[in-house]
Amino acid sequence: MERDGAILWLTGLSGAGKTTISQQLEHKLRERDRPVELLDGDAIRQNLSKGLGFSREDRDTNVRRVGYVANLLSRNGVIVIVSLISPYRSVRDELRATLNNFVEVYINAPLEVCEARDVKGLYAKARSGQIKSFTGIDDPYEAPLSPDITCHTAAETVDESVTKIMTWLESAGY
Ligand code: ADX
Repeated sequence: MERDGAILWLTGLSGAGKTTISQQLEHKLRERDRPVELLDGDAIRQNLSKGLGFSREDRDTNVRRVGYVANLLSRNGVIVIVSLISPYRSVRDELRATLNNFVEVYINAPLEVCEARDVKGLYAKARSGQIKSFTGIDDPYEAPLSPDITCHTAAETVDESVTKIMTWLESAGY
């Protein structure tokens, strides 16, 4: 019998580690022969959500589109890993309420840590005003109130975070 799919929804600040964790997780799941697909914000915004900006409305549209696609895949047995800032609680809760097998994973790192990492150099640009409405700087991030899983990436290694998610999946029967 086909095993259940799932939507692993990784939310968190830019630079918190969503992409790194999702790539390792994808690798681990493939090793176990699970059908898996990764929907990452940067790629999604070049394709499915091309043309959308970073207003609340556009971000929510982005999140709903990705939720829609994730659902199409997960209902066919795919483990879908979503990696989006998805800063607004209400639209995440909307997905949780309407999609089956929605697993909220909070990739939690303090803003200072994300800013110090500044992998893409965007925090510096946001601080100097070259980018407006940047999450964590002059745009909100609403942390999950009761995520299924939390990864504290300033305190855990990538391996530890990935193992935590894999262990959760196993114990939840996925
Ligand atoms: S979301 O808010 O709609 O969920 P998403 O995850 O797709 O965001 O895209 C975030 C990525 O877009 C960031 O990692 C960053 O590279 C880039 N980006 C560009 N402008 C912004 C901004 N104003 N706020 C946040 N991220 C931005």
